[in-house]
Amino acid sequence: MSMLAEAATIATRVEALLARMSLAAKLGQMVQGERAWTTPDDVREYHLGSILSGGGSVPGANRPADWVAMNDAYWQASMATDGGRLPIPLLYGVDAVHGHANVLGATVFPHNIGLGATGDPALLERIARATAREILATGVDWTFAPTLAVAQDPRWGRTYESYSDDPALVARLGAAFVRGLQAERGPDGVVACAKHFLGDGGTTDGVDQGNTVASEEELLATHLTPYHPALEAGVLTVMASFNSWNGDKCHGHRWLLTDLLKHRLGFDGFVVSDWDGADYLSDDYAEAIAMAANAGVDMFMVSVEWRKCIETLRALVDAGTIPLARVDDAVRRILGVKLRYGLFDRPRPAERPWARRPAALGAAEHRAIAREAVRKSLVLLKHAPRVLPLSTGARILVAGRNADNRGHQCGGFTIEWQGVSGNARIEGGTSIWEGIRAVAPHAELVPDGAGADPSRHDVAVVVIGERPYAEGMGDIRSVPSPGAGSGPRAARRSSRRTASRWPWPTSIRKTSPRCGGFRQRRCPWWRCCFRAGRSWWTRKWPQRRRSSRPGCPGRRGAGVSDVLFGQADFTGRLSFRWPGAGGTLFPCGYGLTLG
Ligand code: BGC
Repeated sequence: MSMLAEAATIATRVEALLARMSLAAKLGQMVQGERAWTTPDDVREYHLGSILSGGGSVPGANRPADWVAMNDAYWQASMATDGGRLPIPLLYGVDAVHGHANVLGATVFPHNIGLGATGDPALLERIARATAREILATGVDWTFAPTLAVAQDPRWGRTYESYSDDPALVARLGAAFVRGLQAERGPDGVVACAKHFLGDGGTTDGVDQGNTVASEEELLATHLTPYHPALEAGVLTVMASFNSWNGDKCHGHRWLLTDLLKHRLGFDGFVVSDWDGADYLSDDYAEAIAMAANAGVDMFMVSVEWRKCIETLRALVDAGTIPLARVDDAVRRILGVKLRYGLFDRPRPAERPWARRPAALGAAEHRAIAREAVRKSLVLLKHAPRVLPLSTGARILVAGRNADNRGHQCGGFTIEWQGVSGNARIEGGTSIWEGIRAVAPHAELVPDGAGADPSRHDVAVVVIGERPYAEGMGDIRSVPSPGAGSGPRAARRSSRRTASRWPWPTSIRKTSPRCGGFRQRRCPWWRCCFRAGRSWWTRKWPQRRRSSRPGCPGRRGAGVSDVLFGQADFTGRLSFRWPGAGGTLFPCGYGLTLG
């Protein structure tokens, strides 16, 4: 069917449905509840259009079968016809932002900052396709990805969700990810969601949910650029952003959501709010909901109070504050997405082809793609003296708190919203230590570096980095003490606080070049793997020889050892400039090879 013919058929089906819907059914479509606070009976009674899992919100034992059973129950409730109820299939949404990483055993891919360093759209498309299959294997249809933020300040706790500080690179990679996820709306596809609209990566001082101060020209040039190709790729949904633009919150911004996104750019999917995102528009809840709906929010993502949201929408429509035409527009868009995605034509979740293949979750072929992605995301920043590749026969001391910690390797939005620590809850995959141990039998793991001894070790690999975090919990805030003000002093203080997040093992520090140890004895000096959610500056590191990478390598630590031991060369390039104390230490695009 041609695109025009398809559009006409869908429009006819939408109008036919709309004509049969009560106001209650329409308002229910506009509300998305969280699974922990919403039962299948609620879906049936209130006609809810969607349910989501917030980070770490999982059914039963968190296995594919639990997810499919849960989705089946919600779907059946949405399709009930008792008492003349109109069946409209429910759309279930998750944050599969680096693989379907809420689910035990799923393939966890590097976060976007790591994918940005690969600079490889074709790889991203394959990653998205694999992620879509794993999502489908759990009976889910919608992921709140990709994030198209163009992060400008590494203090922002969501920097790792951004591919790059370069809008053009975010645009290339984001569009590829949309194509991979949606798979031309075929049986291998899910619904993608470009987020967060607009200017999430540009807030002052990198404050999460803060204020982006920019002229219209700057906003469009930096932050809108990635949305053009994502819309061309047919992204079906867009999420409004928590941040403000020049003091006005995006959730209530009619010019951004309606005039720009829907009218000027022709976006014909639907806009979903962020988590209770409308609530912050006003202290008066009804006023807040009215502002968001009239600005162009089509579906309200609500944590607990979804009943209140529906009741309030109803009162606002009855009072004429929200025109019925706005409700109809929102519902047309939601039904249009469900129809275009083919949700009406799919059987119940348990009977869908991918849901019958639970082994697709964490499949070997997906893990191989993750390993490739890790390998290609590594960036070599310094290599003097040349110590790479390492010999598999070498006596390697592996140290650092993050050397054997799959949880830290994976970062936020993995199993839990804020991520996890340790190896136990990240099934399969390998920590960096596990990857090294698999190929280097004389390697020794000593997390705190105790006993580092140049006569016993040829080389030391030190893995430092951040603990996992998500959203504002990862912000680095300069907390000015009285009189400290802002500016360089405060920045230095926050830099110091950050450095303490990735402490060097003390005994290794004692053998550092400044104190003698390895270097004096002319041993190949220790290498450092830096694993973090952002590029960050420090006064000392520039003097040290290291290979380094920004980003979270997912859980394929073997991908790191592939490069350490020379199975593959470094191909990653910084997708963010690396700040130094007095300016830029490494520019965006920088990265060495072993040659
Ligand atoms: C985040 C979104 C996410 C949503 C649902 C919000 O807190 O800002 O990116 O999709 O939660 O988990």
